[in-house]
Amino acid sequence: MIGSLMMRTSAVILVIGMIWGIEMGIRQDFAMAPAHAHFNLVGGVLLFVFGLYYRLVPAAGDSALAQWQGRLHIAGAVLFPVGVAIVIGKGEAFIVLPIVGSLIVLAAVALFGLIVFRTSRA
Ligand code: HEM
Repeated sequence: MIGSLMMRTSAVILVIGMIWGIEMGIRQDFAMAPAHAHFNLVGGVLLFVFGLYYRLVPAAGDSALAQWQGRLHIAGAVLFPVGVAIVIGKGEAFIVLPIVGSLIVLAAVALFGLIVFRTSRA
């Protein structure tokens, strides 16, 4: 079930993201803070909340669109912050990575909005 995959992936991302934060604190180098923040928020918080909606509303989670939405969100949630980190570390030559990653996340969130509109009638 896509909701379970999303929540499990989110839990793994949060553990990695928090270790990343601790590592920044230990090194007293906060250059990667924007990448860390987006990893935790897009990949941790949003992914978990969306996955939870799919578990709570089976009509949404069972749809073919939700399978696409969840996988797209997971891909974007990794590519976007990792792309930001690569640009911070290696330079603007890699800007295409966070641009593509952010567009994937945008598409995934827009798809989620569509699914919510279709399935959240009281
Ligand atoms: C063990 C857990 C965590 C640690 C040790 C940690 C550590 C840090 C550190 C050291 C910074 C940089 C602060 C600075 O620039 O002065 C930071 C920034 C930030 N963190 Fe975390 N963090 C943790 C978990 C989280 C989680 C769970 C979230 C979101 C769900 C989060 C969101 C953010 C945000 C939004 C920023 C600001 C980014 C920016 O200013 O560009 N962090 N964190």
